[in-house]
Amino acid sequence: DGEVYKYYADGEWRASGSGKSVAIVNPTTRQTQYRVQACTQEEVNKVMEGAKVAQKAWARTPLWKRAELLHKAAAILKEHKAPIAECLVKEIAKPAKDAVTEVVRSGDLVSYTAEEGVRILGEGKLLVSDSFPGNERNKYCLSSKVPLGIVLAIPPFNYPVNLAVSKIGPALIAGNALVLKPPTQCLLCNQGAVAALHMVHCFHLAGFPKGLISCVTGKGSEIGDFLTMHPGVNCISFTGGDTGIAISKKAGMVPLQMELGGKDACIVLEDADLDLVAANIVKGGFSYSGQRCTAVKVVLIMETVADTVVEKVNAKLAKLKVGPPEDNCDITPVVTESSANFIEGLVMDAKEKGATFCQEYRREGNLIWPLLLDHVRPDMRIAWEEPFGPVLPVIRINSVEEGIHHCNASNFGLQGCVFTRDINKAIMISDAMESGTVQINSAPARGPDHFPFQGLKDSGIGSQGITNSINMMTKVKSTVINLP
Ligand code: G3H
Repeated sequence: DGEVYKYYADGEWRASGSGKSVAIVNPTTRQTQYRVQACTQEEVNKVMEGAKVAQKAWARTPLWKRAELLHKAAAILKEHKAPIAECLVKEIAKPAKDAVTEVVRSGDLVSYTAEEGVRILGEGKLLVSDSFPGNERNKYCLSSKVPLGIVLAIPPFNYPVNLAVSKIGPALIAGNALVLKPPTQCLLCNQGAVAALHMVHCFHLAGFPKGLISCVTGKGSEIGDFLTMHPGVNCISFTGGDTGIAISKKAGMVPLQMELGGKDACIVLEDADLDLVAANIVKGGFSYSGQRCTAVKVVLIMETVADTVVEKVNAKLAKLKVGPPEDNCDITPVVTESSANFIEGLVMDAKEKGATFCQEYRREGNLIWPLLLDHVRPDMRIAWEEPFGPVLPVIRINSVEEGIHHCNASNFGLQGCVFTRDINKAIMISDAMESGTVQINSAPARGPDHFPFQGLKDSGIGSQGITNSINMMTKVKSTVINLP
C-alpha cells in the first residue's frame, strides 16, 4: 500500500516533489488498489520545457527511424500484455479477456500507425502557378506536412491504454512530442493511470529520446486546467465526457480533437433479421457493462416487432455472467460509486414515470445487473441521458421518421445503427441520421482503428482514426520557388 507509482518525465521515473499521491480505488473491492503521484504545476512546466527541446530533435529524426521505434514499442506492448491487462482489471474492472484484447489491439494500432505514417508523411505536393488566372508558370510551391509541436493527450477511463496510443502513435510518427495525462474519472481519482504508466514504460523500453514522451498524474483541480491551458501545448486530443466541452472553451488557438459522449441509437425496422438485432443489442448495449461511448444507448424499434425482440434480448441477458472482472464475467462493477449512483438515478426516474422493467433492478456496491427498460417515453431522463452502465431503454416507434426524429433531437451524434434487409432504406436512414457514423446491420463500434471516427454536436470535434489523427497532428508547410 505504501508504494506510489512514479510519473515519467525526461526519460526517467520520478516521485513528485509535492510528497502527495492520489488513490486509485478498485471498482470491485472498493478498496485502494494503487497510488500515483500528485504532480505539481511546476513539474508540469518542467515536462513542457523538456518536451519542447526533445521535439525539435525528433522532428529532424528520419521518418523511417521514428517508425522503427514505434514498431519496437508495439512489440514490447504486446509482450507486456499480461501485466498491463491486470492493471485494467484492477483499476477499471474490465473483464480479463477484454483487458488483454485492449492491449493487443493497442500494439496493432501502433504498428499500423507507423506504416501509415511513413506512407502519408512521405508524400508532399508540388503546385505550379499558371493554373490560377493572371499567373505565368514561374512559381513552384512545394508543400509537405510538418509537426505541430507538443501534443497533449487525455484518454478516458474505459480505454486507458488503447485510447492513449491512438493519440501517442500519430503524434510521434508525425514528429511531435507527447504529454500524456491519464484519465481523471473524477477530480480525485485516476482510474486507468497505472495501466497507462505501464504502457508508457513500453515506449521507454523501446528507446525513445528522453523528454519526448512524458506522463503526468495528479489531481484534475491542480494540473487539469493548467495543462489544457498551458502555452506550451500545440494540440489537444481528448476523449471523455463533457469536461471536453469545458476544455474546448478554455483552450488556446490550437487544433482540438475531442471525442465526448454519445447516445447511440439503434433503429430497428420491421423487415430486420430479429436474431441479429437481439445479438447486437446485447453486444452493443452491454459489453463492458455499457461503459463505451459507442454503446447502443437507446433502442428505437417498430412496435410490430418489439415484443419479439424484447423477448429475445431478455433471454440473452439472462445468460450473461454478472460478477468480478477476474472471472471474465460479462457484466462487471461500474467504474466508481458515483457512476453507479448516477445510473441508479436514471433507472429510478424511469421507474417513477412508468417504464417497464424487463428484469428486477439489482445492485451490490458498484455492480449493477443488466437491465432492459421497455416502453420508455421521451419524458424520461434515460431517453436522452447517457447512463454509461448496463441499463438500456427501449422506445417503441410507429414509423421510421419517429425513430430518426428521436435520434436527431439528441444533443449527441456519435454513432448509430439501423437494422433492415432493405439496403436502399438503410442508406436513406443513414443519410438522415445526424451521427458521425451509422452502422448498417451491426452495433456501433469505433474499430477497425483506421476507420474515420467522429462525433457531431456535443459528441465532439475533429475526426479520429489512424490516418485522420496523423493528419490532424500536422500542419502544412509550403516553400515557394520563384523563377525570374
Ligand atoms: O468509449 C469510446 C470508444 O472510442 C469506443 O470504442 O467502439 O472500440 O468500444 P469501441
